[in-house]
Amino acid sequence: MLLYMNTDTSRVIFDRANRLLCGGVNSPVRAIKPYPFYVKRASGSKVIDVDSNEFIDYCMAYGPKFFGHEHPAIKKAVTEQLERGWLYGIPTEAEVNIAEKITNLYPSIDMVRFVSTGTEATMGAIRIARGYTNKNKFIKIEGGFHGAHDSVLVKAGSGAATHGVPDSLGIPKSVTKDTLQIPYNDTEALVNVIEQNKNDVAALIMEPVLGNIGPILPEKDYLTEVRKITAENDVVLIFDEVITGFRISQGGAQEHYGVTPDMTTLGKVLGGGFPIGVIGGKREIMQIVTPSGPVYQAGTFNANPVSLAAAGAVLKLIEQKAIYKNLNDTGDKLRASLADIIMDKKLPYSVGGTASLFKLFFGKKPKNYTEALQCNKEAYYQFFQRMLKNGVFLPPSQFETNFLSTAHSEEDIEKTVEAYRISL
Ligand SMILES: Cc1ncc(COP(=O)(O)O)c(C=O)c1O
Repeated sequence: MLLYMNTDTSRVIFDRANRLLCGGVNSPVRAIKPYPFYVKRASGSKVIDVDSNEFIDYCMAYGPKFFGHEHPAIKKAVTEQLERGWLYGIPTEAEVNIAEKITNLYPSIDMVRFVSTGTEATMGAIRIARGYTNKNKFIKIEGGFHGAHDSVLVKAGSGAATHGVPDSLGIPKSVTKDTLQIPYNDTEALVNVIEQNKNDVAALIMEPVLGNIGPILPEKDYLTEVRKITAENDVVLIFDEVITGFRISQGGAQEHYGVTPDMTTLGKVLGGGFPIGVIGGKREIMQIVTPSGPVYQAGTFNANPVSLAAAGAVLKLIEQKAIYKNLNDTGDKLRASLADIIMDKKLPYSVGGTASLFKLFFGKKPKNYTEALQCNKEAYYQFFQRMLKNGVFLPPSQFETNFLSTAHSEEDIEKTVEAYRISL
């Protein structure tokens, strides 16, 4: 789009940014080429840039904006909290209220620790699982993304895959030697890796729906089998529901697929756009966290009152179950329309997703990381630029999920389908 639209103001800002910020941005996936557009404001389903271009947004801040931008109920809750102060370093009742609600919605969770990001949540969850089992190794799924901390940056998805650095430099082998990798949708690989590392696998951490390279869905019975195998081998099963939590259903992917993990990490949707992360799990596991136990976890911003106020508003909003039916129906309709377009045009592409997650794959529908990497990244990027020109902002990578929100109207969807038709 930057080649077709007036983005002069963005270009000037980027010239300044490039000297000051690594790659001109503060998180790699934002590095749109040749330069990103800079946001002036966002409202509902739209973002407007500093040159007054308006886009229907399916990036939605990479997931947190389940209710679109500037939802009035979230804004009100946060504004009211600001009146009372915004950080105390002292407990508040909100922590208990939100913990009660989360444990009601997620029966697998008895206790929680609030942190500020999904990264901290998965880092803490892995540490806790290791402390609880007194074992060192853990398994992750190839292409799974669990944030940007050292031990999980091995064959990582999201921006790590987009920018060709799934295994980051700067992380000693001594740290990643205990990170074992298996393909998604492959229970045999899980059995084998546990067998090969007998009695030294603390945990399996996985996105139940592989969101950071897709979305790629679990094949029939995959998650149930994973649950069975991990239980039989005393491997703590951690569902990283930072994307899927509160999105696929109120109770996340674990409710939707009827599979109960030992631990869960949450974030994104819960904070309504404010930074939050949650480590949750069974009581006997969580009790080992400081100060009740010997696994250290702490944070100045843990359970910060502003994010909790936003979370309170989000949890109230999701009480209306119709939200999920309407949104997921919209997702079904949109995916069907996109599938029609690629069939009409006889393109060798595919449509993936579930609920309010969707993606056009420039290749056949992948079932794991290796297959996702076969998609045509360059063609996707050209398509992404054309979508911008046609007024639709998608995540700028083949390896990032698109997010629908409750703010997307029927008119937005119609315009979007037309934009796909033209751009393809
Ligand atoms: C599944 C998953 N886990 C963890 C994270 C890290 O969350 P955060 O960016 O809030 O640190 C992400 C971020 O995209 C994610 O998608």
